[in-house]
Amino acid sequence: MKVIAFHVLHDANICICVNGEVRVVLELENFKREYKQTDSVRLQFSKGNNSVNQAAFQTMAMYKTQLLSQVIYKSEMLLGLLIVNRLVLSLAVLIIHESKLDVLNHALYILGLFQVRYFCSAPKNAQFREQWEKAIDEVTKYTGIHHFDVAVTSWVMPSKRLILQELVECDKWIAVDHHLCHATLGFYDSPFQNALILSYDGGGNDGTFNIYSGTRKDYKIQLIKKIGLNLGTPYRQLATCMPEVTGKTFSNDEPTNYMRFAPLALSGKVMGYAALGKVRKEWHQELSDYYKWFVTPLQAIFSLGDQLNLNLEPNALDNENARDLAASSQKVFEELLCAEVNKCLCTLRETGQDIDGIVLTGGCALNVNANYEVAKDFGYPVHVPSAPNDCGISIGAAWQVTPPIQHFPTQYCGLPLHGLDSLTKLAQERNARVVTITELAEIIANGAIIGIARGRQEFGPRALGHRSIVCYPNKQELKDKINRLKSRQWFRPLCPSVTVECARDIFEVCSSSEGAVVKSCISSNGSKGWIPASPYMSFAVPLTAEAKEMFPAISHFDGTARLQTVSNEDEPWYHSLLVAIGQKTNGKEILLNTSFNVKGKPILNNVNTALEILDNNQSDTLDYVLIEDYLFQKSL
Ligand SMILES: [Fe+2]
Repeated sequence: MKVIAFHVLHDANICICVNGEVRVVLELENFKREYKQTDSVRLQFSKGNNSVNQAAFQTMAMYKTQLLSQVIYKSEMLLGLLIVNRLVLSLAVLIIHESKLDVLNHALYILGLFQVRYFCSAPKNAQFREQWEKAIDEVTKYTGIHHFDVAVTSWVMPSKRLILQELVECDKWIAVDHHLCHATLGFYDSPFQNALILSYDGGGNDGTFNIYSGTRKDYKIQLIKKIGLNLGTPYRQLATCMPEVTGKTFSNDEPTNYMRFAPLALSGKVMGYAALGKVRKEWHQELSDYYKWFVTPLQAIFSLGDQLNLNLEPNALDNENARDLAASSQKVFEELLCAEVNKCLCTLRETGQDIDGIVLTGGCALNVNANYEVAKDFGYPVHVPSAPNDCGISIGAAWQVTPPIQHFPTQYCGLPLHGLDSLTKLAQERNARVVTITELAEIIANGAIIGIARGRQEFGPRALGHRSIVCYPNKQELKDKINRLKSRQWFRPLCPSVTVECARDIFEVCSSSEGAVVKSCISSNGSKGWIPASPYMSFAVPLTAEAKEMFPAISHFDGTARLQTVSNEDEPWYHSLLVAIGQKTNGKEILLNTSFNVKGKPILNNVNTALEILDNNQSDTLDYVLIEDYLFQKSL
C-alpha cells in the first residue's frame, strides 16, 4: 500500500509511506527558504512605523535583485492584486511606478507568504499550488514513487484539496482528524503494547486536548474523551508581555494583533525563560482559572492582568515580574496536565484496563519540563515522538491507513543533503580530508566547535546528530559563543547528547517508579532508579551536582538539561563518536548538541550552505564543518 499524506497548515509537511514504512518526510519550513526570508521582512516591518508603503518598499528592495520570473504581464493578475488588500495595492502601485512588471509573478508569491505571516490567512491558491508542486516533486523524485493507492489530508480547505488532487496521481483520497494524527504517530512510534495517549495543543479540527487508548495487538486507537482544556494557546499568549522573551519585535500600532497571533516560537522561548523566575503562590489560583476558562486571547489575558494587578499588554512587564510569571505559568501548566493524567489512570484502574506506558503528543508535548513531571509522578514510562507538534501530522495521517507492522524509527526520515555530487570536488579544492571518529573526537576534546552535516535530515524540531553543531561542554564560554553564532537569546538552554550507558553518571536518577514496570527507561547495574529514555530530546532532567560543575555549557538555570540519549541502535556513528569523546576526556560520553543553522535560516540541508556558515562566521566560533566524513576548515 503506497500512501502519500499532507499537512498543509503551519508546520506544513508531506510524507510517503509504503506498507507503514516511512520512505521520506519533508517539512516545508526546512525546504522552502523563502518562508524564512519573510521573517526578516517581518522584523523590518515591525520595527518601522507600520506604514504599509514602507513594508511594501522593503519587500521590493529585498527581492528585486533576486527576481528572475518570466516577463509576463497579465492584466487579470494585476486586477486581482488591486482588490486583495492595502498592502497588495501599495505593491501594485510600486510595481507600476517602477515599471517592474517582470516582478509581478514573484510579488504574488511573496504576498502569499505575507498573508500567512501577518494576517494568518491562507495563501492564495496560486501560491499554494506552487509550494506544494515543488514539495511533491521533491519527495516523489526521492522515493521514485509517482502513483499512490491512498492520499490522506488532515484539516484542509476543499479548494486546496482540489489543488492537491490535481498534483498527485492517486486512486483514493481520504480526510483524517488532527489529534488522531498526533495520537497515531505517538503510539506507533512508542515501544508500548497498550498505552494511554494524551494529545494536546493549541487546537485542531477535533479539539484541544484529546485522550485515547492504543492497542498494538489489533491496531486500534480509540478516543476515550475530549477535554475542553486548551493549554497551548494561553501558555504562548502570556509570553507576549515578556520583553526578554519577545525580543520586542511587534508593531506598537497594533499590539493586540501581536497578542492575537502570537508566534508559535514563543512557546519554546518562554519554556527556557521560566527557569529564571520563582513560582509565586499568590498567583496560583488566578493562573489556574486563566488556563481553565481560556476562550479568547485578549479577554483572558487582560482580565488575568486585572486580577494580578499586572499590565499584561505586549512587552509591558518588568523583567522580575515577567520571569516569575513565566515560572508560575509553567508550574500551573504542569499541574493541570498531571491532574488530567491522574484522572485517566484512575479511570483505567477502575475499569481494570492495563497499560504499559503513557504517550504524550501534540504541540504541547514539546514542553520538556511537563514531560518529565509526568514521567516522574506516575510510575509509567512516557514516550514522546520525535515530532509531537504539527510537523508530525503527515506520518500520523499515513499510519492511520497502514500502521507500521513493527517499530519503525522515524527520527532520520528527512532528505539527504543537497549538493553531495559536488562534495568530492569541493573537498579537493579546499584540502578537506576524511577523518575517523577517533580523530574527530580528539579535535572536539581539544575544544573545537564543529558543524555536522551527515546522512538524512532529522524529522522533527530537534537536531539529533545529523544536522548539529557540537562541542565538549566543559566551559561556560562555549554556550555564549554558540548563542552568539546563532543569535539566540542568552537565556535559552543548549542541550547535551549522552550515551544511554553514561546517562546515569550525568543525570540524577529518579526512584519514584513505585514498582511499575519501566521498560523504556534507562537503568544499569541493577540499582534502583531510572532516567527517561530520551532519544528525541523530550525531557528536561536534573543534572548531578558534579555534572553541573563539570559541564556548565549545558546546565540550565534550574540545574536541568534537555537530554538526548543515544544508543547504538538509534545512531551507531553518533554513538561511537560519544564513546570516543569519553575515551579522550574524563570518561563522560557527552557532547553539547544544537541545530546547525543560523538566525533566520532553517536547519541546513545543503552542502554549500554548511560551507557558507563556516566561511561567514566572523568571530571564528565555528572551527570546522564535517560533511559526511570530510572535515572542512574555513576558507582563507
Ligand atoms: Fe496540533
